Amino acid sequence: MTSHSGKKLRSQAWFGKADKDGFIHRSWMKNQGFPHHLFDGRPVIGICNTWSELTPCNSHFRELAEFVKRGVYEAGGFPVEFPVMSLGESNLRPTAMLFRNLASMDVEESIRGNPIDGVVLLMGCDKTTPALLMGAASCNLPTIGISGGPMLNGHHKDKVIGSGTGVWQMSEAVRAGKISMEEFIDAESGMNRSRGHCMTMGTASTMASMVEALGMSLPHNAAIPAVDARRHVLAHMSGRRIVEMVKEDLTMQKILTRKAFENAIRVNAAIGGSTNAVVHLLAIAGRIGVHLTLEDWDAIGSDTPCLVNLQPSGQYLMEDFYYAGGLPAVIRELDQLIHRDAMTVNGSTIGVNNAEAECYDRKVIMPLSAPFKDKAGIVVLKGNLAPNGAIIKPSASTPSLLVHRGRAVVFESIEDLHARINDEQLDIDESCVMVLKGAGPKGYPGFAEVGNMPLPPKVLRKGISDMVRISDGRMSGTAYGTVVLHVSPEAAIGGPLALVQSGDMIELDVPGRRLHLDISDAELARRRALWVAPHLPLRGWYKIYVDGVQQAHLGADLDVLVGSSGAAVPRDSH
Ligand code: FES
Repeated sequence: MTSHSGKKLRSQAWFGKADKDGFIHRSWMKNQGFPHHLFDGRPVIGICNTWSELTPCNSHFRELAEFVKRGVYEAGGFPVEFPVMSLGESNLRPTAMLFRNLASMDVEESIRGNPIDGVVLLMGCDKTTPALLMGAASCNLPTIGISGGPMLNGHHKDKVIGSGTGVWQMSEAVRAGKISMEEFIDAESGMNRSRGHCMTMGTASTMASMVEALGMSLPHNAAIPAVDARRHVLAHMSGRRIVEMVKEDLTMQKILTRKAFENAIRVNAAIGGSTNAVVHLLAIAGRIGVHLTLEDWDAIGSDTPCLVNLQPSGQYLMEDFYYAGGLPAVIRELDQLIHRDAMTVNGSTIGVNNAEAECYDRKVIMPLSAPFKDKAGIVVLKGNLAPNGAIIKPSASTPSLLVHRGRAVVFESIEDLHARINDEQLDIDESCVMVLKGAGPKGYPGFAEVGNMPLPPKVLRKGISDMVRISDGRMSGTAYGTVVLHVSPEAAIGGPLALVQSGDMIELDVPGRRLHLDISDAELARRRALWVAPHLPLRGWYKIYVDGVQQAHLGADLDVLVGSSGAAVPRDSH
């Protein structure tokens, strides 16, 4: 079979051969019980699966893959499921982000090296989504994304609780002496009580929304709960559609255009999405060859209002979001704020796909004319403390802290923070600015989600729940607070953050886009001359990663992975 463009399917370079190599490629596949007619030139669809029992958010993916296969067979394709490295946010140490680029390499080479014409990406937990999109983008085959879907709303006693967000709230309550350890442990079972990923608008839900906003999935991908039968229907229909996409040669590059990324940035603001989307979209754009910068996030998205009242910025959860109309209702509401002519995987534009989308609950999805929060997008800060930029999510911040000058209390590492934060003698109050070093891509290593530092108990006991915090790390998408993140360059490579000392004054001015360390240039130079670089890892993936990882403002991809090699493999294996 050929595609509509007349191109021969790439899988035929394996299965279509009449010689010894063709025998080898087909014969070993037949040991799985595949009949000969499946090798007749029909599209071979790779189902890239991040199933793992150590990635609880993706533990239902074997079942989901079966629904994809139904759709692929129904449309005349040949589905083949394959595993790739799975990254479980709740278990992986030192941080799942250390392995995002490694997993993306696994995805890229698994796709390119195999007889695959089109790809279905099964992704859910935070890093699995960007890793799969990045790897697939570097191959540029026809590709469709399916997210695993969020868990059902968490319940504890008489309360609805959100995964992640509820953990931060309850752990602060334990530290402030407001709830017992027994109650804290009891909440574990009720918070995450069904298959699926975090059901707050954390990073997983944000990235599932980004998949849909980028046009990489069928409509409603973002919000259908994992256990809702309609998630299975979505998988089935995606399986059908990918076969058609192969015939149409609808590759990722035709969907992931600059317009698609601009749409995603605006949608991220409209959903109160995670700050992690910044580095992930920058990295995906880098793979597909779209010029996207950190500054674009501010220029394109910061004026966009937040329309959804979801945790951590608001009240509701993803299950409520789906019943209220889901992402299609948000995209329709954004109307002229998005490029309606951006192409999506179903062959229609995003404008056409969502033109009739309805909102069923205005408490959850609000109209553009009366938004949940005004100007809610990511803000990019610059100044002598972050020459290459830092970010903050104003919608998750305390408004009165967005312009603030305070005395720095510096923690040289996460261990230093843990050792001193509960010390009643720590010289700190709520007007101070907490500074954490060594949490960046090279410094941790792996760019950890530790930017939302816990507050000192003596501040918490006053009933205060937020302080200005600054670091070169990231923050969980389920977290909140006046937290400046992704400071670049990071401390571990001698960025100005490395030179901050306790007692320095720091100025944060979000409306003015400024992050300033109030010391003289001469003093900064004096400290720089005395700075000693930290010891960095010597072997294995850690060394490869630290040697090659780019700074946060570029998306933290490995320098050698930026760009694409396409899907061609000129040499045979035998
Ligand atoms: Fe997997 Fe939150 S831990 S999505």
